[in-house]
Amino acid sequence: MCGIIGYVGHNLCIPKIIHGLENLEYRGYDSAGIAYVLNNKTKIIKEKGKISNLKKLLDFDTTTNLGIAHTRWATHGEANKINAHPHSLGKFTIVHNGIIENYSKLKQELENNGYVFKSETDTEVACALLDEIYKQEKDILKALNKVTKIFRGSYAFGIICSDDPNAIYALRCTSPLIVANSPDGNFIASDVPAILKYTNKYILLDDFDIAKLTKDNIIIYDEFLHETKKKVNTFSGTFESAAKNGYEHFMLKEIHEQDKVFKDTINFYFDGTIESLKKNFSFLKKYNKIDIVACGSAYHTGLVGKSLIENYVNIPVNVEVASEYRYKRCFYDYNTLVILVSQSGETADTLAALRKAKNDGITTMAIVNVVGSSIAREADHVIYIKAGCEIAVATTKAYLAQLAIFSLLTIYLGYQNKTISENELNIILDDLKKMPKLINDTIKNYNSYFNIADKIYKNKQIFFIGRGIDYALSMEGSLKLKEISYINSVAYQAGELKHGTISLITKNTPVIAIATDTKLIEKTISNIKETKARGAYVIYVSNEEPSEKFYDELIKIHKVHPILQSILTIVPLQLLAYKVAKNNGCDIDQPRNLAKSVTVE
Ligand code: G6P
Repeated sequence: MCGIIGYVGHNLCIPKIIHGLENLEYRGYDSAGIAYVLNNKTKIIKEKGKISNLKKLLDFDTTTNLGIAHTRWATHGEANKINAHPHSLGKFTIVHNGIIENYSKLKQELENNGYVFKSETDTEVACALLDEIYKQEKDILKALNKVTKIFRGSYAFGIICSDDPNAIYALRCTSPLIVANSPDGNFIASDVPAILKYTNKYILLDDFDIAKLTKDNIIIYDEFLHETKKKVNTFSGTFESAAKNGYEHFMLKEIHEQDKVFKDTINFYFDGTIESLKKNFSFLKKYNKIDIVACGSAYHTGLVGKSLIENYVNIPVNVEVASEYRYKRCFYDYNTLVILVSQSGETADTLAALRKAKNDGITTMAIVNVVGSSIAREADHVIYIKAGCEIAVATTKAYLAQLAIFSLLTIYLGYQNKTISENELNIILDDLKKMPKLINDTIKNYNSYFNIADKIYKNKQIFFIGRGIDYALSMEGSLKLKEISYINSVAYQAGELKHGTISLITKNTPVIAIATDTKLIEKTISNIKETKARGAYVIYVSNEEPSEKFYDELIKIHKVHPILQSILTIVPLQLLAYKVAKNNGCDIDQPRNLAKSVTVE
């Protein structure tokens, strides 16, 4: 989603800001803009589309050392130049992430007071309201503090006031915002990659903090306008981790990192002994009902988690998309645990679901990638996956690492509850050791999946079917495919297909059938035959050698213990989606309309 960067310092700001903005491209956006101060005057340049369009309008040698910039993912008003950020009204110029929910009412009031708006955005309303309050308060900090009492919703603002052209102000509520000091100046940013070339040390602002940045100073005020000191964090990733390293796309690079990500994630919690799992997860023992709440692929991870925990730990698990969960009636009991799954740790609906559970007095645990993100900070317990920086909008390595965590939790809880025997535990642990190599072998087999992709990429729709845990994987396989290739794809429970959707299957419609659960394979094969009888082009994904040929293409994956199987099965589906999208010439790392981190409701 939208990205923010700002710089004030001893060097020219445009090259630094544009570099930072380019490192935020992965979040997804549809226009970009910059405001900089030259001879005490604020100049705004913005353009629809990619940052490359904006760059054409900029003179990189402009002698300005203060600026703020933005990549916008349209929410209020279409993706055009007028609605692009920065916005300016009166004395204030603003870049903004998030949504001000009561902007419409505020806009009417401000219009009555004489403000005239050019754009359809809530951000322009924020400029006007600040300007109006500043006229009364005659103090920037007081005005900033006062608007926090009026705005409803989420916001991270980078602000320039024409009465103080040597400073950048920053203010946040819910949407993340960091400030950082580098040897030659100070930054604000929505996300660490924006500043990583200049420093890996940063301060995460808390809600309602106000930061004032000048070229030699960063002062942070709390919500009572008292100066406050904040913890300086160190980002442990490297700038290289945000580079493609010779791969054509970030998605392909990230798929290839999955063996390492698996190893890093498992090794962080498990040293080969049950004792290590106990040390990390013993707090989980007392819960006998679990709600898993997440969005997108993280929701699909939750579906796999449900299947594992219910089958191997014997406790009920309810999985919900966060945007529904946050508004529904929940039936908690005393020993309910709510697990939030989120790569970014900033997804607005997941964060709201977390807050709802906490308000209801329910213990929360988050499975998160981004260290220090809002969800990680607010949950009662955090389990970090070790996926590193994920840039491609379509998640791969973070999804796989989330699966790895659910496998570990299942192993630990199953063993504790005695639903997994000592004998079975040894089998699982043997397979666990082999997993990085098996993941790597599965990735190395990419040519065979690519050949299949070459045969199906022109189709208008592609079906995925599976039963049980394989249905959960079908959903992720289908999402991967449709989000990056724009081919319509639906995932169906294999047995449900004939209750309607089978009418869409005609000659050569690709059906990707996943069957790895031994006790369900025969049933799924019957459903596959039903599609084959209607002309489907069947791609059969299984860990068992089929005894007859009811398919057109076979993707044979290595068989491991069912607690670990999904981690291997997802890999060919990711690579298949990748190649289908590539053949169709799609923008794989930044699919249209999508955002990496969805910080609005
Ligand atoms: C967006 C991304 C998805 C992601 C979902 C949840 O829709 O495009 O890839 O699965 O958000 O994101 P989270 O950061 O909470 O895992």
